[in-house]
Amino acid sequence: MSAITILNSYNSLSKKVADIVEEQLKENRISRFILPTGSTPLGLYKELVNRELDWSSVMTYNLDVYIMNPSHSQSYQTYMKENLFDKTNIYPSNCQFPDRNVQSYEVRLKGIPADLCILGIGTNGHIAFNEPGSLFDSRTRVVHLDEQTIQDNSRFFGSVDDTPKQAITMGLGTIMDSKRIILMANGKNKFEILNKAMNDEVTTMVPASILQEHNNLEVYYCDEK
Ligand code: GLP
Repeated sequence: MSAITILNSYNSLSKKVADIVEEQLKENRISRFILPTGSTPLGLYKELVNRELDWSSVMTYNLDVYIMNPSHSQSYQTYMKENLFDKTNIYPSNCQFPDRNVQSYEVRLKGIPADLCILGIGTNGHIAFNEPGSLFDSRTRVVHLDEQTIQDNSRFFGSVDDTPKQAITMGLGTIMDSKRIILMANGKNKFEILNKAMNDEVTTMVPASILQEHNNLEVYYCDEK
């Protein structure tokens, strides 16, 4: 079982996680972060940009990407540029995304574990794009997205047909190697799955449930949506 800290607004959720990132950055300028995309971390990135922190020695690793043109307006590469990278002094060459050379992404992460990994959760319990059934020791790989995920993410693409069906994601094993993990969730539609993941059995059918076994996990939730 892992405790869920409930915050009273989306603003507080974003600020709380931004405080953690800021503390990490101030403690070690050469921090390594694993970063998420999606609607949940938008407030976090906005908050971080406003704080004008020094990102010049930071390395970032994104959790996942769709298999699509990286310059597409809805790609995760574009999302990160628009919401964080282009608004900080981070070096573009220090911003890493998984690609088809999955081994090399693993090697880049393996030797030195990330100081901080920030995660969202999908309505089916996925983290990154580790869909139900993903193995707990899985590593970076190409995956087919779940029907539920395609449906959920179609809001960014206008239709299910136009939504990517494949992605490259860090594995659950890759994520679990991080020194510290923060899981953030917003919205009533996320509470049931979040509660199940944190308080029910650890099962591959709820990929986020493996986080219960991490020794440095914090979970923050608000129900503003
Ligand atoms: C997406 C991403 C996840 C993200 C999740 C929730 O599909 N691959 O990394 O955590 O779904 O997204 P949102 O915050 O938009 O609900």
